[in-house]
Amino acid sequence: MALAETLLMHVSITGALFAALLLILGIFLFSIGSSSQVEGKIYPPGPKPLPLLGNLHMLDLKKTYMSLWELSKQYGSVFTVHFGPKKVVVLTGYKAVKQALVNLSEEFGDRDITPIFHDFNDGFGIVFSNGENWREMRRFALANLRDFGMGRKRSEEIIIEEMQYLNEELEKFEGKPFDTTQAVNLAVSNIIATIVYGYRFEYSNTKLHHMVRKANQTVTMIGSASIQLYNTFPWLRRFVKNQKRIMSNVRDACKRSEEFVTSLQETLNPQSPRGFADSFLIQQQKDEERSSKSATPFHSKNLHCTINNLFAAGTDTTATTVRWGLLLMAKYPEIQAAVQDEIDKMIGKRQPLVKDRINLPYTDAVIHEIQRFASVAPISIPHQTTCDVHLNGYLIKKGTSVWPLLVSVLRDENEWETPDSFNPRHFLNEQSQFVKKDAFMPFSAGRRACLGESLARMELFLFFTFLLQHFQFTPPPGVSEDDLDLSPVIGFTLNPTPHKLCAVKRF
Ligand code: HEM
Repeated sequence: MALAETLLMHVSITGALFAALLLILGIFLFSIGSSSQVEGKIYPPGPKPLPLLGNLHMLDLKKTYMSLWELSKQYGSVFTVHFGPKKVVVLTGYKAVKQALVNLSEEFGDRDITPIFHDFNDGFGIVFSNGENWREMRRFALANLRDFGMGRKRSEEIIIEEMQYLNEELEKFEGKPFDTTQAVNLAVSNIIATIVYGYRFEYSNTKLHHMVRKANQTVTMIGSASIQLYNTFPWLRRFVKNQKRIMSNVRDACKRSEEFVTSLQETLNPQSPRGFADSFLIQQQKDEERSSKSATPFHSKNLHCTINNLFAAGTDTTATTVRWGLLLMAKYPEIQAAVQDEIDKMIGKRQPLVKDRINLPYTDAVIHEIQRFASVAPISIPHQTTCDVHLNGYLIKKGTSVWPLLVSVLRDENEWETPDSFNPRHFLNEQSQFVKKDAFMPFSAGRRACLGESLARMELFLFFTFLLQHFQFTPPPGVSEDDLDLSPVIGFTLNPTPHKLCAVKRF
């Protein structure tokens, strides 16, 4: 049984035995029955939960999104599933997800701060925060990231500068097979570093390698089966090794950001902030002069949580998408050739710029299709209802955890012609012009939608066009395109299976 396997692999022996006892107890106790209709109120349907275990025995926690997607075929696009005692409402398909996140944005707009997310940030920062603190931090981050990067011109400059370094890094492999992970991750996290701190790191800097490796490990561990069990049964904490590893990584990341911020503080000039961290420090000083220390949300806990949120949310997602793109190009050389043909005709050998996108409809369609097909954030990040709300005729109570299954939107068979195959024509019309699609939601939607969307879209466009302009991506010698594996490694994000590619210079 998937759950028992998962337990034995991830939780220490004592914990496993204890949890296994629960499992047996749960299975032998008779079911308490489905409670989809109580006092005339209709709650979203779902499989009958067992006492204590809920529906855990039906879920493969190593592939949770697949199990949930499967259940939606039986219970519909709005259904309830019990993770132990915790009730989660799952949303699948474009219609239900859009109705909740866009049309009922306020009602579905809180974050469900699960135990691991609470351990992370204590309710501070942006990603795992709610209420006034979230509003202030999100607003401040959006306004300031615009100045230091997400504004068009500056972001473009930062990304283009980084491209030159990435180019040199890839040239070093001289067309021989290499794993794309490190180079792409370093380039992407340098873009966040420039926006946050105002400077980039050399690729040889071991601090950067360390930060990036730990951040990626953390993202993978958050999606692990043992952490999902911990979120379900928080009292398992002492048995869950991944919880300790994650916390050690989080402490490490905070220590590093403290070091960087301390050195920024020494040379801070309130008239000319160099990045997001400087702006935050300036606001902090202003608030402290005006009011008492305790009244301002601009305190160091919020600063470090926000900085680490930006690195964690902005690095793995973007780098993984770029890596999926390169893998897919090696897998489908005819699509790669068509992209290169378009780039060669419309741009030639000069540096691609954001304004070129309009003249590259096929390339744009391929990039969108990469995001759709890869679906790097399959379950988004859990939401929570802010009040009692009706969706598709069902009542969802205030404070219920809601999981929008973004992968089921990106592969909704009512919205996409060939949902399970890589097909750039999803984003092209008869005249081969680029067309937007409403069901394209890799960044989620509504008031919690990805804060870095515009930066990420710019990064993906400039990275992709630049890399394909300069390099031909192929499987290693002796490996055929058919051998390249497109099945994902499942963590909190979906990553390509470890692989090597050759980047052969085109000129
Ligand atoms: C391809 C790249 C990216 C993808 C696919 C992606 C996807 C997502 C998704 C699915 C969410 C959850 C939204 C929800 O709760 O409904 C999210 C949230 C978030 N993302 Fe991104 N993201 C990407 C890049 C970035 C970048 C570059 C940054 C930083 C500049 C960033 C910062 C954030 C933050 C701060 C949140 C939390 C928003 C909140 O809770 O209010 N993301 N992202």
